[in-house]
Amino acid sequence: MERTLSIVKPDGVEKGVIGEVIKRFENNGLKVVAMKMVRMSKEQAKGFYYVHRERPFYDSLTDFMSSGPAVVMILEGENAIARNRELMGATDYREAAEGTIRRDFATDIERNIVHGSDGADTAAFEIAYFFNELEICG
Ligand code: CMP
Repeated sequence: MERTLSIVKPDGVEKGVIGEVIKRFENNGLKVVAMKMVRMSKEQAKGFYYVHRERPFYDSLTDFMSSGPAVVMILEGENAIARNRELMGATDYREAAEGTIRRDFATDIERNIVHGSDGADTAAFEIAYFFNELEICG
């Protein structure tokens, strides 16, 4: 069993696809074990994406992520990190496989509907960024 952090980003909330995204997780062996809606401040978004601080898109990305509510959740399942990434598709929706969340709903490389942890270390950091042990119903 593995855990990963998933975020339905502000564009996903705006487009009304929270339920569709969660349905895809639940239909594919990923169980939601914690969830909340958050409106991140610019500083919170910068902390979350600290690893990207040197990238040219850091400022724009953190503006976007703090522009409206997002849904953050912990998904649990076998190979949850890789499975979630498969369901999301490539960061750039134009390269994402048919039937993936980003291919189906994203319209922009930055506004790409969902975020998912990309490895065990980032999953641990990202889960702890939003949730404490009492909030996890595993
Ligand atoms: P995410 O999986 O949340 O990880 C980092 C985010 O940065 C990514 O999804 C996109 O929202 C954004 N991102 C990644 N690459 C680019 C890029 N080349 N231009 C703009 N935004 C990007």
